[in-house]
Amino acid sequence: MSRRRFAKHAVAAGLSVAMAKAQRGPARVLVDGRRTKAELDRRLLGSFLEHLGRAVYQGVYEPGSALADEKGFRKDVLAEMRELKVPVIRYPGGNFVSGYNWLDGVGPSKHRPRVLERAWNSIETNQFGTNEFVEWCRAVGTEPLLATNLGTGTPESSAALVEYCNIEKGTKWSDLRQSHGYAAPHRVKTWCLGNEMDGRWQIGHMTAVEYGRKAADAARQMRTVDRGLELIACGSSSPGMVTYLEWDRQVLEECYNEVDAISLHRYYSNSDGNASRYLSLNLELERQIQEIIAVCDYVRGRVRSSKRLWLSFDEWNVWYRARGGDGKRQEAPRLLEEVYNLEDALLVGGTLNALLRQAERVRVACLAQIVNVIAPLMTSSTQVLRQSIYYPYAWALKYAKGRVLDLGVESETYTLPRAGGGPGGQGRAPEPVPYMDVAATMDAGECCVFVLNRDLEAEREVELVWHDATPAKVLACETLTGADLKAANSFEQPRRVVPQRLEAPRVGSRMTWKVPARSYSVLHAGLG
Ligand code: AHR
Repeated sequence: MSRRRFAKHAVAAGLSVAMAKAQRGPARVLVDGRRTKAELDRRLLGSFLEHLGRAVYQGVYEPGSALADEKGFRKDVLAEMRELKVPVIRYPGGNFVSGYNWLDGVGPSKHRPRVLERAWNSIETNQFGTNEFVEWCRAVGTEPLLATNLGTGTPESSAALVEYCNIEKGTKWSDLRQSHGYAAPHRVKTWCLGNEMDGRWQIGHMTAVEYGRKAADAARQMRTVDRGLELIACGSSSPGMVTYLEWDRQVLEECYNEVDAISLHRYYSNSDGNASRYLSLNLELERQIQEIIAVCDYVRGRVRSSKRLWLSFDEWNVWYRARGGDGKRQEAPRLLEEVYNLEDALLVGGTLNALLRQAERVRVACLAQIVNVIAPLMTSSTQVLRQSIYYPYAWALKYAKGRVLDLGVESETYTLPRAGGGPGGQGRAPEPVPYMDVAATMDAGECCVFVLNRDLEAEREVELVWHDATPAKVLACETLTGADLKAANSFEQPRRVVPQRLEAPRVGSRMTWKVPARSYSVLHAGLG
């Protein structure tokens, strides 16, 4: 970027031209402990498990394996999950849910049918179902987030599943659960009303008005069974849909009063190979969030509601290489086994920053998915592998706590060439992309700063200027970086992309932190 352009940007950001000229290079981050963006709902750091490929079978459940416990759960995956501490996991789909009969997956396993699963053209043995999932969640310390089938399913079958899961006893479906050996109700609080119903690929795809009415009916019946539910309507499955935003408006005009939230999905691609553009895509995701908020608030006005909806970003990740979705009528076929590299991990880090910055309205978000299928964890018959994207996700889970701070960030920017036409962020005038992408949280006595450095060539300095609370001690300072953006971990070379310790900045009210080129870094500090 030219010196002149930085000066212009810096003036817009409130710096004098003289300062801007003198400051070419370092970014400045104002961290004021009194300025809160939102209380962090930890469910923002959730994940997703679908009956797809080897996610369930061979991922979390593999009876007969030397690695399985007495329930058939993979012990190595259980250990990884316990360490990660994922707060919530969405299940059972995804596209799978729109053709799923939940009754096939409960009761004595020998009586469960082997079915031809039509979303992914696979064989579903139904040996793992709702009860096994809830048990697995309890074993790893996560909350289940269940999706109901509003494709081939009905509002009645959705309400029946709520009754099966959440009523203690004395009714048809709760007594069925009791007869299956689960005396205590599962008490599942948060539910998705179907999945991606705007997509032509979706079993039972329908128009927005049809879906909105079905969702409203399902929501009313489900709430009659359990008043305490949180319900999420299906929003647009991608900003690339021709119905983007119109779908959301029409759906909400039918069901605004019945639901609490609307869903968003996003999968990134680097098919044009431009890393500078790729690493800016988390900003597009923030724009998507803002656009959906605008629709929610527009409909809120139209229906004269005092209720403000929140957002559930219940599928997001990088996904563009392993795209084929034909399971060829096999059990646990190898599908969507995306291999993640360093640049993917950097974008995942940037996305976590973006979600933190949007935490005021986004309460739930799910990295899609958790194991084997577009996932941070991969299993072989003998081991589990941490892919590159595992690390930024693990840092967020470990360090992001308390309140998300409203930071003041001044950074040099770069400009991308204008992208092609089409809905969903393309064809727009180029906007400056800051080299430095920053988010921070603060909790009692501690603070955490996450930085994506989009500069592909140079190390950069970040000057952290603290107001109110000031760090007294650096507790952790790490980075994920490397010379090769395409480097990836494998079972043969599991440590090609792993965190490295980074020189910690000296503590004080002004701290100069050097972050490497092409990096995602975390600074965890104890406050004085
Ligand atoms: O996560 C993979 C698939 O992506 C899900 O099944 C679907 O909801 C989305 O299109």
